Amino acid sequence: MADGTTARRITAPAIFAMKGTAKIKMVTAYDAPTARIADRAGADVILVGDSVANVVLGHDDTLAVTVDVMVHHTAAVTRTKPTALVVGDMPWLSYHTSTQDTVTNAGRLIREGGASAVKLEGGRKRIPMIEAVVDAEIPVMGHLGLTPQSVHSMGGYRVQGKEAQAAYEMISDAHALADAGVFSIVLEGVPDVVAEIVTKEIPVPTIGIGAGTHCDGQVLVFHDVTGLGAGEYLPKFVRQYANLADDAVTALREFFDDVESGAFPSEVETYHMSPASEEILRNLSNPTDHLMADEAMEGQPRIR
Ligand code: KIV
Repeated sequence: MADGTTARRITAPAIFAMKGTAKIKMVTAYDAPTARIADRAGADVILVGDSVANVVLGHDDTLAVTVDVMVHHTAAVTRTKPTALVVGDMPWLSYHTSTQDTVTNAGRLIREGGASAVKLEGGRKRIPMIEAVVDAEIPVMGHLGLTPQSVHSMGGYRVQGKEAQAAYEMISDAHALADAGVFSIVLEGVPDVVAEIVTKEIPVPTIGIGAGTHCDGQVLVFHDVTGLGAGEYLPKFVRQYANLADDAVTALREFFDDVESGAFPSEVETYHMSPASEEILRNLSNPTDHLMADEAMEGQPRIR
C-alpha cells in the first residue's frame, strides 16, 4: 500500500486453521467485478473455478478450458487485490500427465495469475501430483465426490458415494489427500453422512457444495447465488438469493425505452462547450476548415 503497510490477506494456513473455529465462506468469481463483490460481501476464499467454462464462456462442461484461460481469469480476479484467499482451479489435463507438468501449470496460476493456492480434482491417483505441488510451496485444495472434470467417466453429473463401498473409498481418498498436505478439501455432490464422516475424521477443513450441513464451510457458484445465470439449470443444492438477471433485463429495458423516447441522455449526462467556443464554432464560415478552426480554438478547453 502507498503508506507502506500491507493490506490484510487471508492465507491458506489461515483457512486451514479455521477448522473447528469458524465456518469457511467460499464463492466463485471469474473477473474483476465479481471478485470485488465477493470480497466486499466477506468471502474467505474466492475460487476462480473452471466452472468459468459453462457459467461464463458458454461451454457445455468444464473440459474446454485451458491453463491459459484459467490464468487469464485468475489474473482478472487478483488484480482487484481482494482480502479473500484466491484459489485458481487447475483445468482438465493440466495435472494428469506428469508431476513436472503439474508443477509448471500450478506455478503459472501463481506467477501469472497471482493466485495464492490451486485446486485440483481427484483422489489417491492424484497424490504424486499433489505432493509435487505442495513440495513446490504451493498450497493445494483438494476436490472429491462429484468432480465435473470426470463427467464422461462418471457417466454424467451424479451424486457420488451413495453406496457404502464407494463412500468408504471416498473417505479413504480424503485421508490420503490430508496426508499429502492439502489445506482444505471441496466435497461436491455427496450424501451428507459421507461429508459428516470425512469432516469428523480428517484434520483439514471440508468445504461442501451439495454435501449437506456438516462441512467446515460451504461454496456456491457466484452466478447461481445471485441469479445471474439467466435461466441456466440450477442443481437441487443451490439456494438463489437474488435475481440479478431479471434486474439487469429490467434496467436494460428502461434504458432502451429512454433511448426511444429521447429521455436519455439528459442535461446532466451531456458535455457542453463554453458559450464563447460554441459561438466561434457556429460562426465559422467553413466548419470543415480545420486550420482556421484550430487557430480560433487555440487555448480553449475542448471538453468540460
Ligand atoms: O469450478 C468450480 O466452480 C468448482 C466449485 C463448484 C467447487 O469447482
